[in-house]
Amino acid sequence: MHTRTKFPLSRRNFIRLLVLGALAVTGARGFMNSRNLKLQKVNIALGRLPSSFEGLKVGHITDIHASALVPRALIREGIDLIMSERPDVVVLTGDFVTSATKILWTTYGGFKRRHYHDCMEEISRLKAPLGVFAVLGNHDFWSGKAVTEEIVTGLGRAGVQVLRNEAFPLERNGQRLYLLGVDDYWEASCDLGGALRGVPEGTCRILLSHNPDVNEDIKLRREPIDCVLSGHTHGGQIVLPFLGAPYLPSAFGQKYRAGLVADGERQTYVSRGLGLFLVPVRLNCPADVSLLTFHKGKATRHLRAALTGPGGERKSIRDPILTS
Ligand SMILES: [Fe+2]
Repeated sequence: MHTRTKFPLSRRNFIRLLVLGALAVTGARGFMNSRNLKLQKVNIALGRLPSSFEGLKVGHITDIHASALVPRALIREGIDLIMSERPDVVVLTGDFVTSATKILWTTYGGFKRRHYHDCMEEISRLKAPLGVFAVLGNHDFWSGKAVTEEIVTGLGRAGVQVLRNEAFPLERNGQRLYLLGVDDYWEASCDLGGALRGVPEGTCRILLSHNPDVNEDIKLRREPIDCVLSGHTHGGQIVLPFLGAPYLPSAFGQKYRAGLVADGERQTYVSRGLGLFLVPVRLNCPADVSLLTFHKGKATRHLRAALTGPGGERKSIRDPILTS
């Protein structure tokens, strides 16, 4: 008698296997992406840039998140990429460590001294003629007051000047450009007014703020800021085609996800960051360190160029603008 050969898998189990396989492949790709660091080169035009600072090269590293998820080799690679470009100044915009963070029923991450020391040793290799500057991120505060102070001291020992609601004048040929830095925007100690105190009217200001949402405060003040350099969003870390990032820690939705964003004459550059948080996965959102070259000109000049494709076609304004 003829017996039917049964397919060893039911249709339902076959679909389950297919979905699991797709998730495994996506996860593996996401993990590899998280270790694939890019040097992002971006031109930024500022109307008030003093002529002596034309072509100023700023190395920008953010969200190192020194932890078990971010190997020292990746931090070393980021430092090497920036140093190979011989920047005039280097800025670090916070989240040097990962704090313990409670999400739903469990706690992720946590400050580990070993990773912190590795991070500071690598950072100490950063050198630039006009200096190396930093601000603190939310994770640098969430690890507690003692750890925050330790990070500030460690950065100082590594040759980094931490700007805590203060300004530092950069000088070239007798002209000045002001570098401002604020504590993390989610902290009560964030004080943009303090950072602007004593900065002469009409001068060009570049603000270091871990969180790009500081733009909300800038809008409320009369003193203009020319450029904001930030991180914090990790570019979304996981970005879905057509939908964008399902989660972004910003009150502005996808606006400051990554890249260059213009608010009138003020521009905000958001780096996707070197490290990551929660899961060692990045999807459609490679890790980056950035080399920003400043030019004198209308704020929209480079934005227009970045928005126009090679054939002259206009890309969607909703895409973050990244040039390299
Ligand atoms: Fe971060």
